[in-house]
Amino acid sequence: MRVYFDNAATTALDPEVLKEMFKVMESQFGNPSSIHSHGREVRTLIERSRKTIAGLLHTSPAEIFFTSGGTEADNTAIRCGIVDHKLTHAITTKLEHHAVLHTLQAMQKSGVIKLSYADVDSKGNVDYDHLETLLKTNDRSFVSLMHANNELGTLTDIERVGELAEAYNALYHSDTVQTVGHYKHDLSKLKLHFMVCAAHKLHGPKGVGFLHINHKVKINPMIYGGSQERNMRGGTENVYGIAGLAKALEMAYADMDSHQNYIQDLKSYMKAQLEQNVPGVSFNGETDPSKSLYTVLNVSFPEMEMADMLLFNLDIAGISASGGSACSSGTDIGSHVLTAIGANPDRPSVRFSFSKYNTKDEVDYTVAKLKDLCAVVI
Ligand SMILES: Cc1ncc(COP(=O)(O)O)c(C=O)c1O
Repeated sequence: MRVYFDNAATTALDPEVLKEMFKVMESQFGNPSSIHSHGREVRTLIERSRKTIAGLLHTSPAEIFFTSGGTEADNTAIRCGIVDHKLTHAITTKLEHHAVLHTLQAMQKSGVIKLSYADVDSKGNVDYDHLETLLKTNDRSFVSLMHANNELGTLTDIERVGELAEAYNALYHSDTVQTVGHYKHDLSKLKLHFMVCAAHKLHGPKGVGFLHINHKVKINPMIYGGSQERNMRGGTENVYGIAGLAKALEMAYADMDSHQNYIQDLKSYMKAQLEQNVPGVSFNGETDPSKSLYTVLNVSFPEMEMADMLLFNLDIAGISASGGSACSSGTDIGSHVLTAIGANPDRPSVRFSFSKYNTKDEVDYTVAKLKDLCAVVI
């Protein structure tokens, strides 16, 4: 059996999305910036995709800017939001994805900003009182707090952060990469200045996403060149990717409630099976469904011999999972997220992340393997 439990790293392309992309690849090759009919056809397709996405998120197409994915969108929001608004202070937490953390830390290092970290508890929940203190006691701030943590699944109350940001005249960016297409965002109500999407997290293609910029905020481009994206991002558009992204989001919204129930049920089932079958197992991050992303279960296993081999042994058994943020896999450093919540470094942790394509049989197979692998406990 081969099991894919690494959907927070990336998801399988939905066959309907692939079909849509193929259709474009086969029939439309014009450059969307060309003014002739070949170009205009493709321009229309891009604008139709933008309109679809904006409609689903309750915003205006003029606020959606296509990018190469989550990392570029995060970098643009942070760098241009801070520099163009002449902000000198930023607030984040130590749990953010490196696309956010490393960008802010680079700006701190080069002296552009002072960086503060809002406290988090042992499950990864933001301390909103501390956030307010930081907002109150510093100059006008740039706040970057993600919607769902990609390693733990713990959710941030982005409505509450938006209210706080508004009260202190701060700019609020949220890395929503793990939640777009998994929850319904109403951008007409959320007090966000910037939010981001990566298509490959919602059964869309890799290398494409978008940055939403609230019309109240103006920034300059990060990538200069042509006049694409209304002068906000130079470079010929990833046309097939954009068509695939719009289709993937449309499909995610069409079946969101049933997928959410199905996946939440799988996650709860796996949690219960692990508790029954693997002595000493516990969980990193929030597990309360109202505070936790339904696609992520981060499991902490008892100390064992060859702990480093756990993921490897799962892989040998055909099970793909992750030992932290997938974006850092391949590097040999531990998880900065687990370190920041004070997780015991001697207990191996594995993030299992689910999609609509997973089944209870896969959970049973994985739990049985884990039971065997954890049998030698010291
Ligand atoms: C929370 C979060 N932000 C940003 C990214 C980066 O997105 P992309 O791979 O599209 O650059 C990821 C990818 O894992 C992520 O999980």
